[in-house]
Amino acid sequence: MKFKSQKVAYYFFALSMLLFTLQIVYGFIMGFAHMGFDGLHDLVPFNAATATHKNLLVVWLLSGFMGAAYYIIPDESDTELFSVPLALVQFYSFAIVGVVAVIGFHIGWFEGRKFLEIPRPLDYLVAINVIVFLINIVLTIFKGKKHSTTSWVLTAGLIFVALLYLPGMVWFDNHTVDSFFRWWVVHLWVEGVWELVMGGILAYLLIKLTGVDREVIEKWLYVIIGLTFLSGILGTGHHYYFIGVPKYWLIIGGIFSALEPLAFLAMTLFAIKMYNKGNKKHPNKLALYWTLSTAIVAFLGAGLLGLAHTLPGVNLYTHGTLVTAMHGHLAFWGAYASIVLAIISYAMPLMTGRKIFDNNIGHLAFWLSNIGMIAMTAAFAAAGIAQVYLERITGLDFMVSQIEIQPHFFVLILAATLFSTGVALYIVNFIKFGLPNDEALTDGEEFKALQTN
Ligand code: HEM
Ligand code: HEM
Ligand SMILES: [Fe+2]
Repeated sequence: MKFKSQKVAYYFFALSMLLFTLQIVYGFIMGFAHMGFDGLHDLVPFNAATATHKNLLVVWLLSGFMGAAYYIIPDESDTELFSVPLALVQFYSFAIVGVVAVIGFHIGWFEGRKFLEIPRPLDYLVAINVIVFLINIVLTIFKGKKHSTTSWVLTAGLIFVALLYLPGMVWFDNHTVDSFFRWWVVHLWVEGVWELVMGGILAYLLIKLTGVDREVIEKWLYVIIGLTFLSGILGTGHHYYFIGVPKYWLIIGGIFSALEPLAFLAMTLFAIKMYNKGNKKHPNKLALYWTLSTAIVAFLGAGLLGLAHTLPGVNLYTHGTLVTAMHGHLAFWGAYASIVLAIISYAMPLMTGRKIFDNNIGHLAFWLSNIGMIAMTAAFAAAGIAQVYLERITGLDFMVSQIEIQPHFFVLILAATLFSTGVALYIVNFIKFGLPNDEALTDGEEFKALQTN
């Protein structure tokens, strides 16, 4: 770590780990409810659990992205952060809004629009918070001596994330119009601008971990961004098939969303190529594992499992079933959870000076969580395919078919236990690092010798 102010990232990473743990608790509540064990129903009804599970996911990922930016931007710009007190105020207010939102879900204070459940008054606070964050980051870049493509891609991604939150804050009386714009947030986030954030962090990590020239890595970044926008913008159409918009969305959505896996494929090829080209001497093996797995698992979860239900003819049957949950889990895990875990694994040793980057706990955490998540995806797939058959083909009532598929959730709980054990071990390592400290400050050249081919 070269700059004292990079330590601010720690708070965001710690919040991330805390909310991730809570998210998993709600996952289990829903898993058991699906199995028929809904004992907590009066306290946490399914609608509150699902809103909490998904919003905690979004908040812990955003907290991870902010932490990543607070760590990466000073380093890339070669200067201290513009303002540490401002970052701390932003941190506490972000955490408070998150906690209020979660409590609100339990007492019926939410909007009921999937992923955008946070009530409007809190939306304004989120927007102000994110603006303060962006001001701090952009002023740091302008204050800095260096301007890198990587830092601009990351920052542009975060600015677009904020802008695209706005269509979700407009009030519409018409359900179709509301749904149309809801996807500008949800789809254009995960299949558009979040990919820039992910690409920026991925590029930074690959530059640091493989030692390949920045020019080579940043050239790939342009290709990935190009492919993302080319396919992802009109790919929004794959959510417009049956919501009451004109029919041409069937063909537009089908064609463009079928091209979306190309961006994820490019990202995987890029990461593997850079790894092969690199010098493989960097001691932080765990960060390297998480970086490579991000690219590979994102392709499987988002690219392949997205493609599996993106054509109108298939989506007609699978829409809104557990097939969607199958894809949602592996895509979010591969693309966004893993990149946050990668940057945390990279930054923590440098912020604390403790060399926990190749230990057994860390490797076990990596394998158990990834294998567990793949097994969870398989359980959701089995449940989802059975649901499609029973509900959409034989015409069984929704609740009747839900009872038929209960056994699959036993398998889901087993897989989720494996997954959670991995996550718990990751958090054990996180706690073992302790707090960031100034003794970890260096000239920023920690692994310079290893980084040149
Ligand atoms: C990292 C990137 C991605 C993430 C995190 C992600 C996540 C999700 C989530 C959570 C949903 C459910 C949304 C809701 O119902 O509110 C969803 C739906 C969907 N995703 Fe993705 N996705 C990603 C990429 C892709 C890609 C690349 C494709 C296509 C190739 C795709 C195809 C679909 C389709 C067709 C649906 C609609 C499912 C339905 O009709 O119920 N996704 N995705
Ligand atoms: C112990 C671990 C977990 C369990 C048991 C679990 C379980 C569940 C269940 C039962 C649902 C509701 C499915 C439905 O009825 O629609 C759900 C939804 C969801 N979960 Fe998890 N989950 C876990 C961890 C995670 C993680 C780590 C992520 C992200 C990386 C995640 C992302 C999601 C998403 C995006 C949805 C919405 C899916 C959709 O749009 O259909 N979950 N989860
Ligand atoms: Fe989408």
